[in-house]
Amino acid sequence: MTQTQSALVVDDERDIRELLVLTLTRMGLRVDTAATVAAAKAQLANAPFDFCLTDMRLPDGTGMDLISHIATQHPQTPVAMLTAFGNVEAAVEALKRGAFDFVSKPVDLNVLRDLVRNALKLRTEREAAAVARPSQRMRGSSPAMVQLRQTIEKVARSQAPVYIRGESGTGKELTAQSIHELSPRAAGPFVPVNCGAIPPELMESEFFGHKKGSFTGAHADKQGLFQAADGGTLFLDEVAELPLAMQVKLLRAIQEKCVRPVGGQAEEQVDVRILSATHKDLAKLVDDGAFRHDLYYRINVIELRVPPLRERGEDLQELTTLILGRLAERHGTTAPVLDAAALEALRAFPFPGNVRELENILERAMTMADGEAIHAADLHLPRTAPPAMTPPPPAEAVPAAASWTPPPPAPLPMDSGSGDLTAAMEQIERATIEKALLENRYNKTRTAAQLGITFRALRYKLKKLGLE
Ligand SMILES: Nc1ncnc2c1ncn2[C@@H]1O[C@H](COP(=O)(O)OP(=O)(O)OP(=O)(O)O)[C@@H](O)[C@H]1O
Ligand SMILES: [Mg+2]
Repeated sequence: MTQTQSALVVDDERDIRELLVLTLTRMGLRVDTAATVAAAKAQLANAPFDFCLTDMRLPDGTGMDLISHIATQHPQTPVAMLTAFGNVEAAVEALKRGAFDFVSKPVDLNVLRDLVRNALKLRTEREAAAVARPSQRMRGSSPAMVQLRQTIEKVARSQAPVYIRGESGTGKELTAQSIHELSPRAAGPFVPVNCGAIPPELMESEFFGHKKGSFTGAHADKQGLFQAADGGTLFLDEVAELPLAMQVKLLRAIQEKCVRPVGGQAEEQVDVRILSATHKDLAKLVDDGAFRHDLYYRINVIELRVPPLRERGEDLQELTTLILGRLAERHGTTAPVLDAAALEALRAFPFPGNVRELENILERAMTMADGEAIHAADLHLPRTAPPAMTPPPPAEAVPAAASWTPPPPAPLPMDSGSGDLTAAMEQIERATIEKALLENRYNKTRTAAQLGITFRALRYKLKKLGLE
């Protein structure tokens, strides 16, 4: 016999309560009701619920109070709140307090059913997770990393938008993936999109899809990223790169939970959780008027910071072992070990490019090393590293800053004698690009400009060379 799942509906208006009860009962839930905060608290203390739905205004308090109460006293119960249509503040506040999601009135029953299904999945997935934990992909045992993993587990349980900030290569995308994998949407798609890589004129069609013939070149109907992410997670990477015009449309899609394909007549309902990331200071862009405040407010309900590698030196050894192991597996060799001096050199290096840079350094070192050990010399670390990712001081104020000269490019394995021209060219390309990236503090636009290639060409090369 399958166990019936239970829900608690908290609303003082009888009509709405009955509609909600009917809907949830039809979904196979056993439903209890309460008309006040006090009654709800008593019910919750009495028996565990798999889901709770509460109205905002109640005779003896607010839905917010109840959400806070549930978040602290019954954290296993996902709670959603009914909000007045268009009341973004209330929705955001509820999510910040730990609500699983919100649904605006008048209640769209399809939206409500999606929401309930997600909430119940959370419960069953939770039980499955107790048996087989999803892979802990974010490695590292530094206090900062332990804390980040805990936060990831916590926010994964909610539908709230999460804004992930951190320097280049710190693990922002990995964080987004982990949130998705630990969330009730894990079985759904995870759709990452680099907002900086889509040409502005194609953006609307990329995000929302288009209908055949809606513009020159639209030869067939095309599905948008929102539709592709339906039932799952849409990860807006480099969200700061969104043009202002697109920000308006995105805000609408997020708010209304529906999109209209270019050239389409009808709106399509989508059930998508939004995660976003950038290495830029989004709050500052808002101040400067380059990013809309209302969109920032909407996507930044929960903010997560992925700390730079230099703030978590304890992770270095574990990450190094992990990365060397992966590389060895890929190359079908045994993993080399770092000798003491090499490890010491890594510890002293500030890693402006963070974990991704560590990966690149180790990969290069592995091809350079001729034995089972990697020596400090194989690492080719720049002797003086640039101050990592801090905004460059004005040149005239601090002339010393201008005196830093980039390290010479890593020596090329010309003596390898393999005679493989493609491989040799790739080495040159890689070294040149890495050097330019470092000089431009990993700003891809400036790097591309310096190299005299387009941004897209650079992206392509980064991908090809596995430098992304
Ligand atoms: N804690 C970690 N444990 C294991 N691997 C990690 C960790 N953090 C980052 N990585 C690895 O480092 C690389 C960079 O991570 P990721 O792409 O998530 O960074 P990012 O912050 O999105 O970078 P960018 O700003 O360049 O887009 C990936 O290969 C990722 O798997
Ligand atoms: Mg990224």
